[in-house]
Amino acid sequence: MADSPFQFPVAGEPVRRTLARLRDLGPVVRIELPGGVPAWAVNGHDAIAELLAHDNKLVTRNPRHWAALQNGGVPADWPMRPLVTGEHLQVLDGADHRRLRTLLSRAFTPSRVEALTPRIEALVAEHIDGLLAAGGTADLVPGFTEPLPISVICELYGVPTAELHQFRGWVSTLIAHTTTGEQAAAANQDMLGYLAELVDRKRREPGDDLTSGLVRVRDEDDALSDAELVTNLWLMILAGHETTVHLLGQAIVALLTHPEQRALAVEGDRWPDVVEETLRNRTPVTASPFRYAMTDLTLAGMPVPAGDAFLTCYGGMGTDPDRYGAEAERFDITRENPAHQAFGYGPHFCIGAPLARLEGRIALSALFNRLPELRLAVDADDIPYSPSFITHGPLSIPVELRAKAAVPG
Ligand code: HEM
Repeated sequence: MADSPFQFPVAGEPVRRTLARLRDLGPVVRIELPGGVPAWAVNGHDAIAELLAHDNKLVTRNPRHWAALQNGGVPADWPMRPLVTGEHLQVLDGADHRRLRTLLSRAFTPSRVEALTPRIEALVAEHIDGLLAAGGTADLVPGFTEPLPISVICELYGVPTAELHQFRGWVSTLIAHTTTGEQAAAANQDMLGYLAELVDRKRREPGDDLTSGLVRVRDEDDALSDAELVTNLWLMILAGHETTVHLLGQAIVALLTHPEQRALAVEGDRWPDVVEETLRNRTPVTASPFRYAMTDLTLAGMPVPAGDAFLTCYGGMGTDPDRYGAEAERFDITRENPAHQAFGYGPHFCIGAPLARLEGRIALSALFNRLPELRLAVDADDIPYSPSFITHGPLSIPVELRAKAAVPG
């Protein structure tokens, strides 16, 4: 009898540890997701590179090719349904994907993103001022790592500041593997409803933002449908902040727990190296659901039938010892072989990579330069992490902003 599938995720085990264990089991491992949904976990640098090279050829992101979804193997109330359906870039391939990607990526070229520098610097300074005004201690997640990327992406898409706070709740619910089907469906409906209403508002009162630009392209050039407009806004706002929140959180914890690396970063102004090493060593995107076999194929030696789903497990890729050596788990901004694929590769390569890198550099540099005495107020082992295998980062980073004055003896 065939071995039973690996039950993923593992309750009570940190997701990054589970992903490292899966990688040790093999490059392509049969897993079962909550709800009894079968998939193949693709692990380690070489197998993931092989899978991504098949994009749009032997594998697709379009769930029309997922046999279990089409034949009832995926429960109707499965909490991950909203993440793998819709009409956005992550569930399309071929001509539709190219058409939408061309429209959406125009705003994220390196030069356009670089032009956002002064605005991001101002937002970062505002948030650090806010932390300092609030006193000697703070939680950097609600105080810094969450509001900053949310403000940036919402400004870009013209979401009024007063309406920002809702996004964090909807997105955390959709991404968590502890969410019920009912909660996921409600969060998704609320978020899509809000975005449809935002589109109507921008149609009536256009502004100088990316949503207004997409509404113009929709109405004047008919280059995308209403559903494509709304679900791609959904994807851009979700991916545009959830990932960067965790990039900042992971980098801050790494530096606060590696004082020698922090000193190197501050003294040498090595913030791009901090960002790249964080992406390699503790990537915020731990798994990407799903790709589907369009035909019977063999991946890293494993035969996989047409219609099966692959989970791309980026979380164990950057720490793969076969690629990065025995010291792969060590956080080291001076590493000689830092190249990573935390932003993916090929047709679905991350649109937001230049923005994430810029926000990371500006935010981390300002935080550690303005708060030279910043330190954790709890044991690093007591920091809680997000209950999601898709994205991963700290939920709370309690800190002291300044060293306490010595008590006179
Ligand atoms: C540290 C931050 C980020 C990381 C680690 C990250 C990672 C990734 C990865 C791995 C993929 C490819 C997934 C796959 O197909 O397997 C991806 C795609 C994508 N990312 Fe990011 N991302 C980040 C930030 C952002 C930001 C800031 C935005 C938006 C402004 C964004 C928007 C997107 C979009 C729209 C796609 C889908 C592209 C497509 O399917 O053609 N990401 N990202």
